[in-house]
Amino acid sequence: MGKFIFAFLLLLTGAHAAAQQPAPVKPSAAEKGRYLAAAGDCVACHTATNGRPYIGGRPFHTPFGILYSTNITPDKKTGIGNYTLEDFTAAMRRGKGTHGNLYPAMPYTSYYLIPDEDIASLYGYFMQLPPVEYVPPENDLFFPANLRFGLGFWNWIFFDKAPLPPPEGKSPEWQRGNYLVNALGHCGECHTPRNFAFAMKSDEKFAGNILEGWDAVDIRPASLRRQGWNSEQLRLLFTTGASERGTAVGEMFSVVKHSLSHLSESDVNAIITYLLDDSENTSETIGNPQVAAEQFKQGRADFVAYCAACHGREGRGITLSFAPPMDRNAAVRGENPYNTIAVILRGLPAQRMDRTNARAGMPGFHRELDDTRVAGLVNFMRAAWGSAEKPVTREDVAEIRRQLREHDYLDAME
Ligand code: HEC
Ligand code: HEC
Ligand code: HEC
Repeated sequence: MGKFIFAFLLLLTGAHAAAQQPAPVKPSAAEKGRYLAAAGDCVACHTATNGRPYIGGRPFHTPFGILYSTNITPDKKTGIGNYTLEDFTAAMRRGKGTHGNLYPAMPYTSYYLIPDEDIASLYGYFMQLPPVEYVPPENDLFFPANLRFGLGFWNWIFFDKAPLPPPEGKSPEWQRGNYLVNALGHCGECHTPRNFAFAMKSDEKFAGNILEGWDAVDIRPASLRRQGWNSEQLRLLFTTGASERGTAVGEMFSVVKHSLSHLSESDVNAIITYLLDDSENTSETIGNPQVAAEQFKQGRADFVAYCAACHGREGRGITLSFAPPMDRNAAVRGENPYNTIAVILRGLPAQRMDRTNARAGMPGFHRELDDTRVAGLVNFMRAAWGSAEKPVTREDVAEIRRQLREHDYLDAME
């Protein structure tokens, strides 16, 4: 009798749970999908500034005109509500939308490496989101880029479906990192140089790429070490956006905010294990502040006048939440001075990672400092706290200033 009542109760509660949960997707699957969507950073591209998540409408400025991301909420009229799992898989892995080929601004060129199981979880997650009716602005692309069928040729020539680098003798942690970095995290989409047709150069994977007026730096192991990165500093950067070696700025801020800072500790470790690979910790910098101050007198004077209030007279920063140190900063240590020059000219906007983690930003100095003075300042910093040997010239600064001006990045903060 007791058993019977128990079974009856079970039936009742079971029926009750089913009535409360109309979505066909199991909550655990949707939960996994939500995590994978964070690892894939779908929200960064499928959300316009101040827009609702996943409704699209974010503009992408390509050499061929402006393209807008689409609505990926399950609205039947304006979103992906009519997508089957097969349609979703085709969009994610082959760049085939239900209305034609997708532009490779959608990173199917990395997502093709996502296995069926993860695609299904992502599909489950998106299909149980609240549908939002919203039509993004019309694309403004010029001929022949406005013809979607042309993308078939592009895919045929440039879509390089190489398998993941082989894991010979690598740890499971490295292999997980390999997957997260190359497939879901699509790090190469920003960090790999592109050719004339906007395709990633597969033989220069992760070698660095200029993107919206920032250098998405070389993140191959030797280069990361050269910039002074180790596991501890990378962990800080990926989880909080700030570290002793520098802070995440531009698009990288968004990657940390929406994607990396939501990953589990073990996944962050896996990414770091993959990125640093077997490389050795490199020794300290060869910089020498006394010698540098002698050699670049004007540069030292400008640092004290314009920068020391926030970054400290000796370049050690104040506190990390206020302004990062310049002494051994990755940007200052790096081979390529692009970001150091760009940040001095354009400054940085105030940004908020979450409720308790925000940064005040930095003014741009493109009016106060001419090309010669910026070069002197950067040379002083690199000689004092970096490890680069090749000095920066006035012409280097002039060229970066020209590029930033051309794309309206210099006055963006005023
Ligand atoms: C780097 C930017 C970027 C990221 C990251 C990104 N997308 Fe997209 N996605 C786009 C753009 C742009 C389009 C529209 C392309 C077009 O219209 O040809 C698109 C189109 C799509 C489509 C086709 C929709 C339609 O209207 O037919 C789907 C589905 C999709 N994305 C899903 C995802 C999912 C899921 C993720 C995360 C795992 C993701 N996207 C991440 C940029 C991105
Ligand atoms: C008002 C305070 C302030 C002043 C003045 C200032 N900075 Fe900054 N600087 C910051 C802050 C804050 C950041 C980090 C902002 C962020 O990450 O969003 C930063 C970032 C940087 C970075 C990027 C480093 C990194 O770790 O990402 C460099 C390089 C830099 N500053 C150099 C300079 C130089 C050179 C000057 C003088 C010409 C200067 N700054 C003046 C506040 C300041
Ligand atoms: C949407 C473009 C974009 C994507 C995707 C992206 N990055 Fe970046 N990344 C940048 C840019 C731009 C910079 C340079 C600005 C900076 O230094 O923060 C950068 C800088 C970095 C740096 C140096 C940080 C510093 O502050 O010097 C590391 C390390 C890095 N990225 C790792 C990654 C990893 C790992 C991934 C994939 C999980 C990734 N990035 C994905 C754009 C991107």
